[in-house]
Amino acid sequence: MAASRPLLVEPVPRLVGHVEVPGDKSISHRSVLLGAICDGETRIGGFGRSADTEATIAAVRALGAEVYEHGADTLRVFGRGLTGLVSPGRPIDCANSGTLVRLIAGILAGQQGQAFELTGDASLSGRPMGRIAEPLARMGAGVETSDGRLPLAIEGRPLKGIDYALPVASAQVKSCILLAGLYADGETTFDGPAPPRDHTERMLQKAGARVTIRPTSVTVRRTDTLSLGDVEIPGDFSSAAPFVVAATLVPGTELHVHGVNLNPRRTGLLEILERMGAKITVYNRREIGGEPGGDLEIRSASLVGTTVDGDEVPTAIDELPLFALAAAAARGESVLRGAAELRAKETDRIEATVDALRALGVRARGTDDGFTVTGVPARLRGGRVSSRGDHRLAMLGAVAGLASRDGVRIDDADAVSVSFPGFFEMLDELRRTSAIEQPERR
Ligand code: S3P
Repeated sequence: MAASRPLLVEPVPRLVGHVEVPGDKSISHRSVLLGAICDGETRIGGFGRSADTEATIAAVRALGAEVYEHGADTLRVFGRGLTGLVSPGRPIDCANSGTLVRLIAGILAGQQGQAFELTGDASLSGRPMGRIAEPLARMGAGVETSDGRLPLAIEGRPLKGIDYALPVASAQVKSCILLAGLYADGETTFDGPAPPRDHTERMLQKAGARVTIRPTSVTVRRTDTLSLGDVEIPGDFSSAAPFVVAATLVPGTELHVHGVNLNPRRTGLLEILERMGAKITVYNRREIGGEPGGDLEIRSASLVGTTVDGDEVPTAIDELPLFALAAAAARGESVLRGAAELRAKETDRIEATVDALRALGVRARGTDDGFTVTGVPARLRGGRVSSRGDHRLAMLGAVAGLASRDGVRIDDADAVSVSFPGFFEMLDELRRTSAIEQPERR
């Protein structure tokens, strides 16, 4: 992604208003990928447009699926059936998206007699692919990485089911294996330590695949046809999270975030923040697109430090940089452990988060599998941080700016477009409404 001028995010005196964030990125990817291997038409509402999900649309088009776009967030995907994808004869560019590359690899492994190549940008090309290549090869696919990284060459072959106990809690790897399992003889079972997000198995079930979901394992059997019909995508909790943390840290706040996905495998940050003393109320609980959803009300709060580890890590994996920021404003020390996976994200998010906090005057230290942050319950000083091209780091910088004394300059702030292109516009709009509205007295 091209570097741009640093963006200054100035402090706000309070945050008052209502926001609605774009459709969930994980579910948006899955709806297009599964739509491409369904029979007939899939209609997707609330699609979360972003650089990542645009890459998924381009990928399935390259493979022969038709995708029609109606307005901002409605798509119609005409699938080619489970085995009808056609190799484009050139590499498929997965851009910055780990979800795209890992999930599509499982589907391509089942396209017998065809060869595919998957590539990505510099960040994705540095991320580990052995974690999908190894189980796919065990299932019988022809898979070759370049020293465990991209480019990834895949040849579709007859597959057989496997029992796979994954050493890391990765939904992307789980999904890759489950999707390949649709094509495999026998049963494919995934067993994991702390169960990561389960959107793939939920959507597979809706599409008519033979899936059995248990508390810590999932089994899929060979499936002949899939049909999704209508898919409604709830707001992305990971895109709501910066607003939740900002509303907690900025004084005099009453913020509502509407229509958010509240799948418990995604909302670890809510529990963490509540443990720290945050004032978050969930209301209007309802099902949105086959997933638990609802609205959030957030009021400012004074926080105390906490420890995050174990099963909580995968439920907050993309929000851990924001946890670090909340910890910086909390009384006492906060610790993150058991999160070595953060080093394999769009950046090394342990190093990038700690460096960003230090640049803002916070006492923070990285460890092998997490970090320690010494909080000070006062406004952050502010300063200048670099996103390093990582959308989650750019959002951390923005939230820090709102809650700071002097504002925060963010280098390469455009990185937000990877998951949330309208992020800064929404922030500006909220700044405007906050200047007019007063929080309701309680
Ligand atoms: C995702 C899974 C997570 C997460 C990523 C999206 C998904 O990665 O970090 O942003 O859509 O399946 P891992 O499953 O590799 O931890």
